[in-house]
Amino acid sequence: MPPALDQVLSYATDQDSQFEADLEALLRIPSISADSQFAPQVRQAAGWLVEHLQTLGLQSELIETPGHPLVCATTPPVPGAPVALVYGHYDVQPPDPLDQWESPPFEPTRRDGNLYARGATDDKGQMLTHIKSVQSWLATHQRLPLQVKFLIEGEEEIGSEHLEEYLAEHAEALACDCVVISDTAQFARGIPAITYGLRGIAYYEIHLQGPSHDLHSGVFGGAVTNPIVTLTKMLAALVDDAGRIQLPNFYDDVVPLAERERKEFAGLPFDEDAFRSQLGVEGLTGEVGFSTLERRWARPSYDINGIWGGYQGEGAKTVLPAQAGAKLSFRLVPNQDPEKITASLRSLLEPLVPPGIQFELIAYHGAPGIAMPIDSPLLAAAARAVELGFGHRPVFIREGGSIPIVNTFAERLGAEVLLLGWGQNDDNLHAPNEKFSLADFHRGIRASAALWECLANVP
Ligand code: BES
Ligand code: MN
Ligand code: MN
Repeated sequence: MPPALDQVLSYATDQDSQFEADLEALLRIPSISADSQFAPQVRQAAGWLVEHLQTLGLQSELIETPGHPLVCATTPPVPGAPVALVYGHYDVQPPDPLDQWESPPFEPTRRDGNLYARGATDDKGQMLTHIKSVQSWLATHQRLPLQVKFLIEGEEEIGSEHLEEYLAEHAEALACDCVVISDTAQFARGIPAITYGLRGIAYYEIHLQGPSHDLHSGVFGGAVTNPIVTLTKMLAALVDDAGRIQLPNFYDDVVPLAERERKEFAGLPFDEDAFRSQLGVEGLTGEVGFSTLERRWARPSYDINGIWGGYQGEGAKTVLPAQAGAKLSFRLVPNQDPEKITASLRSLLEPLVPPGIQFELIAYHGAPGIAMPIDSPLLAAAARAVELGFGHRPVFIREGGSIPIVNTFAERLGAEVLLLGWGQNDDNLHAPNEKFSLADFHRGIRASAALWECLANVP
């Protein structure tokens, strides 16, 4: 290990409890981007970051958008060395259902070496590792081996609506050789990963309006269309028993899995029994002809994310409800276009609307999937850094989640994207009891500190 890096890492070790305290301070701010009631707290988290980055000696600013603000910061340019742009998000998902949390979501709590809080792994904890590694370099050497820019947004969890425009208008200020993102997971305990592919997403809401008010189901049932019955038929029509999505032309643009990739996935030490028991399910289902990893990482999928209508309270209520609705989404693979999916979904659903029902389809965020080449020198340098931080060589994987702006980085900025995930698959992101292993937090900081050195040495 080069002596400079050695000093950086011992500083990081000395500071580990201060670093944890900083993470806890950020986690206490309920920066829930989806809920407009929390807009002041979202802004507060952005302000906390701007100030924190300034304290560490970076030039940093809060940038207004029509939505939640962005945080931009930079270290000084280093002539002759590459430029790395760190992207992350300080917004978090809503904490509901609240009664299922063992400790309150915005009161970070330690249990068994983990820190429990909304945003612990997604993405405050992971994002902060890069800030803490920069701090460690600056504190020990007053400079970094390369220039690091930060772009931290507050709208990732709601589809990065305003970031695209900012990127288009500030491409010069954000110019970089690679984008570094820690917002994914390791493959398993002790097996860090570099992710080279993500799925995209197309998200919708359906509203069905039946009669103008709720009706007695005995007096009117059988003669008036029940919107929940219509809704369930619609939702069921979208997939068949073999797990094939039924939208017209849905698979036309799907890039088939390469035989080489199928072999690589099959060669990973994936323990399907452990996976099942961790989720509390006895069996798994999905598209026939594909393995679990293939289904999760490289095949499209369909989910109903929420459903409502009728009586949800205790006991029986004989009602024919006036309304029903659902939220649903498709995960997409490279080449599938969310806008084509919207048109196709509409064309399938509209003929299913019976007399007596008004149908409304709302399209929310969409983003295409991505799969990136894995033979680049920057990626090899990143793999060395991950090995230094985690003590194990990373495996190369794809993942099923989406980070909408990754496509824009790759296509518009022409930058290479390095997805270096420090999380675990059982970190409960988007769910109650989200956590981040404190050991992974510190390993992430060490890997990040090594990353600046490894990237700077790429010719
Ligand atoms: N960090 C996740 C995405 C992720 C998680 C990728 C795990 C790979 C592994 C991100 O914050 C996220 O939740 N994205 C949303 C995007 C959506 C709201 C547009 C998603 O995937 O649902
Ligand atoms: Mn995230
Ligand atoms: Mn998320």
